[in-house]
Amino acid sequence: MEQQKRYGHFDDQHREYVITDPQTPWPWINYLGNEDFFSLISNTAGGYSFYKDAKFRRITRYRYNNVPMDNGGRYFYIKDGDTVWNPGWKPCKTPLDFYECRHGMSYTRVTGRKNGVEASVLFFVPLKKWAEVQKLTLTNQSNEVKNLKLFSFEEWCLWNAATDMENFQRNFSTGEVEIEGSTIYHKTEYRERRNHYAFYHVNTPIQGFDTDRETFVGLYNEFADPQVVIEGKPRNSHAHGWSPIASHYIEVTLQPGESKDFVFLLGYIENEQDKKFSAPQVINKDKAHALIAELDTTEKVDQAFAELCQYWDALLNIYNVRTGNDKLDRMVNIWNQYQCMVTFNFSRSASFFESGIGRGMGFRDSNQDLVGFVHQIPSRARQRIIDIASTQFPDGGCYHQYQPLTKRGNNDIGGGFNDDPCWLIFGTVAYIKETGDFSILDEMVPFDNQPGSEVTLFEHLKISMDHVINNLGPHMLPLIGRADWNDCLNLNCFSWDPNESFQTTENVSEGTKAESLMIAGLFVVTGKDYVALCKKMEELKNGRIEVFNSSTLQLFNFTLEAERMQKAIDAMIEAVKKHGWDGEWYLRAYDFYGNKIGSNECDEAKIFIESQGWCTMAEIGAQEGMVAKSLDSCKKYLECEHGMVLNNPAFTKYIYEYGEISSYPEGYKENAGIFCHNNPWVIIGECLAGRGNDAWSHYAKILPSYVEEKYQTLHKVEPYVNCQMVAGKDAFKPGEGKNSWLTGTAAWMWYTVSEFILGIKPDYDGIRIDPCLPQTATDYTVQRKFRDAEYEITIHPNGAQKGVKAITLDGQPVDGTVIPYSAGKHVVEVTM
Ligand code: GLC
Ligand code: GLC
Repeated sequence: MEQQKRYGHFDDQHREYVITDPQTPWPWINYLGNEDFFSLISNTAGGYSFYKDAKFRRITRYRYNNVPMDNGGRYFYIKDGDTVWNPGWKPCKTPLDFYECRHGMSYTRVTGRKNGVEASVLFFVPLKKWAEVQKLTLTNQSNEVKNLKLFSFEEWCLWNAATDMENFQRNFSTGEVEIEGSTIYHKTEYRERRNHYAFYHVNTPIQGFDTDRETFVGLYNEFADPQVVIEGKPRNSHAHGWSPIASHYIEVTLQPGESKDFVFLLGYIENEQDKKFSAPQVINKDKAHALIAELDTTEKVDQAFAELCQYWDALLNIYNVRTGNDKLDRMVNIWNQYQCMVTFNFSRSASFFESGIGRGMGFRDSNQDLVGFVHQIPSRARQRIIDIASTQFPDGGCYHQYQPLTKRGNNDIGGGFNDDPCWLIFGTVAYIKETGDFSILDEMVPFDNQPGSEVTLFEHLKISMDHVINNLGPHMLPLIGRADWNDCLNLNCFSWDPNESFQTTENVSEGTKAESLMIAGLFVVTGKDYVALCKKMEELKNGRIEVFNSSTLQLFNFTLEAERMQKAIDAMIEAVKKHGWDGEWYLRAYDFYGNKIGSNECDEAKIFIESQGWCTMAEIGAQEGMVAKSLDSCKKYLECEHGMVLNNPAFTKYIYEYGEISSYPEGYKENAGIFCHNNPWVIIGECLAGRGNDAWSHYAKILPSYVEEKYQTLHKVEPYVNCQMVAGKDAFKPGEGKNSWLTGTAAWMWYTVSEFILGIKPDYDGIRIDPCLPQTATDYTVQRKFRDAEYEITIHPNGAQKGVKAITLDGQPVDGTVIPYSAGKHVVEVTM
């Protein structure tokens, strides 16, 4: 077996991952920014920045899939005599005497040392500011005076990341900059329709600059050996077209032991239409000056950094566990929650695998991301729910994606993915249970963003359920549409043309019999939530009517609605038992012609994970033994060393009737990869069935901290977050990870561990306590802020996997398993 080298380690006390070798098996990145201005940053300071939307407002340029890997970033070149080096090793790759990259909560600190000089750069985006701070500290650790030449470097993107990479006939003529003191302004297209510009500033006088890439780098040089840096002399170039950049030149003298700070600031500004210019052709810089003034000293920057750290302290104090198992605690308390914030912010748009131009915010993705985020900042979750619901159509269908900048549904992708509507219930219910804020159901929300079309959010939930009911197939199971959660199960697509996208090709829907067992399970799970919600609403209406402002909700008969939906759920359960059970597991689907998919009768892909997950979560046929059999089959056929694969055996050939799923080589992506996202579904199924040992062993297999310990080289991608896919047992290299960071796995891992394993589950009236643990679990304590209360909950498992025997709240016994909500601090003891 391959020797597993280590590239770094966790530092839990500082909530950091410390990378000690710059040559990680793949760039290991972090995210900066929390609301509007964002940056991706690798362990060598590669990456880029954008405002809100990685496609339409790309601020700096990045080259995906380039040679060498990870090309472009914020680079500092330090010229010390004839030696040129970078604190993050790249791009010069001059061997360093010391290198360290610390990825923390929304910040990254890169430190390099060479020949007695230390350069340490702290990168972060201050809260509520549209700027990336780069605080560079240079220290002379030698005994001699150091005369250093410092060159900064950023390359501008011409705003639209897609056209920036393809429309060269135009791009090479449009680039424009202005230079004022120590600030370089990027104003391409500002003369016409754009009201925004960017700038790169440093808080010290400069001795020169460059803004034209060809001048700075040299036409046949590379980022590793820019000619200006090699010569040690800036050319004060002024870009006209071609590729504008921003580089400051600073001469630094350091006495032995002396240290100096430089605050670099990459900022973004929007101006009002009538205030664009201060003189003909000259941009109005007032707002830039103001922003710079807020962050132009070490003290101001340190203050902003302290605020960012406090912000994360507060967020990570909402749910905190002490189990005594460091590998579990660090994921629950730090990295899983952090990744949930990142997926909430970006959905699947911008990572080192997602180029930021292909996909905006997914309807299903963003709803699922909510369960990982809602406890952190409920007000942002609330707005997100409204934004998502606003892209729904009157029949309950919806756009599959929307652009974060415009919040409009994406016409290129369209709709017709029949699982999508159900997720709106999933997300909304999670929000209400966390906050107790039923008023969200009363919000007036449009269809397809059309003014005048508004109905209550509750109505959106209702039509979401109805969309499933109105689209049933011959077995009374949900029609799959374009695809369900598995984007690659394209049963109505029938494509032989390699130039067609499986996602968007016109589907044959006339006469289809393609039905999904995954949607069936999802419908039952979310349907139960919907029924419970209706009952709760009726109760509230009869008690405190003031929670609903709109007469529609006051007049609505929630009891009848609950009954109606319960009937539909019961019918679905019957349909699954009758037409969805294969003997040892649940079928996956029926194809266009009504043939079984995911059956023992099939040649390949006899069993799929998604329907096992959802039908066990829905507990369909539990009494008849279906749930236990299905879970056993997952262990028998899907589980391997690195997690559970999506299907087994893998497809070995393209099947015209199935689409993209069969297009992937064996063991990758949706064809028998370990698609981490759906492992938690089975784990929750295990938890509901009370099988704590199995739940834990599945969970630990894909828990990054466990993987980190064993396989940093094989796993390849960042060891502190989950990735979308790990190559499955049929793959060439099982265990190799891909598509890190932006995956629904984050939210599902959080939901699974926080609510089902550790068993702290927000509910309408309080917190439900229902852990499901491995037999080996010992006592643990969860600190949980919940609405205006704070609970300290200690669980004594006593060797039990499941089943709460007794609960006391502030010393008083509680009936049942829900601790009733009341504001203030409480102590809870739970005996299993
Ligand atoms: C991707 C998509 C997600 C989909 C999954 C499975 O992660 O973002 O929407 O459900 O793949 O195909
Ligand atoms: C591809 C991927 C899938 C993703 C979809 C949408 O089909 O395999 O994971 O969800 O594209 O972009």
